[in-house]
Amino acid sequence: MTENNSTLAVKATDLTKKYTRGDSEFDAVSHVNLEVPKGDFVAIMGASGSGKSTALHLIAGLARPTSGEVEIEGKAISKMSDRELTVFRRRRMGIVFQSYNLIPHLTAEENILFPLRADGRTVDAALLERLRAFWEELDLTNQLSQYPDALSGGQQQRVALARALCAEPVALLADEPTGNLDWTSSQNICRVLDKLNKEEERTILLVTHEPAVAVWAKRIVVLRDGKIAGEFATREFRDAAELAARYQEIARASASR
Ligand SMILES: Nc1ncnc2c1ncn2[C@@H]1O[C@H](COP(=O)(O)OP(=O)(O)OP(=O)(O)O)[C@@H](O)[C@H]1O
Ligand SMILES: [Mg+2]
Repeated sequence: MTENNSTLAVKATDLTKKYTRGDSEFDAVSHVNLEVPKGDFVAIMGASGSGKSTALHLIAGLARPTSGEVEIEGKAISKMSDRELTVFRRRRMGIVFQSYNLIPHLTAEENILFPLRADGRTVDAALLERLRAFWEELDLTNQLSQYPDALSGGQQQRVALARALCAEPVALLADEPTGNLDWTSSQNICRVLDKLNKEEERTILLVTHEPAVAVWAKRIVVLRDGKIAGEFATREFRDAAELAARYQEIARASASR
């Protein structure tokens, strides 16, 4: 059953993105339908090149689809001008890119606060205190005055996560948010995401190829060759190894179709 739009953080309908390779076209994302209710936590999994980043970019409105539609909180983003979309994205969507995209001449703290400042919002003492408590959870307190080139990959990734969340978006869209982290830091980030999802009912849509990260989500969507090959709930699994086996099964079954 289709949920009422107002309860959906994200709705993608028949989403397709064509790219050219040599002189032929192919679908990097092919007829994807996805509904993410508010408060859901979804992990998109799939092999390298399966279209995960492309799908996330379309959902975030960073690329326009060849066909199909994306609605965020019931609002069709194709109907927005580039300018409207930029403002909407800054206010309602928190995005973590696979390549971080930090601004090199701003410190970590200035990078994190950038979406608020760009929106003309004042960061008062109470807000700053709340944000600082969250940055402490992300283990960023000692890095706040550093510039991105003085940060490790994992630290930059955590700054990007803090930046994505500072405007309290309806949905956090994150591409491999733990891609550069060691096991302990990666599980720490997952714990922070889990808390945001459970305690603040923040909607999370993330891309990962790591079962140990995906197992924190409520639902897994498997992409293969740009198409949804299957999906399943994580509550039936006790651990990441079981989840990985189920994921492989879906990926294999779709390959032999
Ligand atoms: N701008 C582009 N022009 C042409 N082809 C592209 C472009 N961006 C991505 N592709 C192709 O689209 C397909 C999907 O790419 P995408 O980056 O979405 O994969 P992915 O699942 O995120 O992979 P990874 O796990 O390696 O990040 C790949 O075959 C890729 O080469
Ligand atoms: Mg990718």
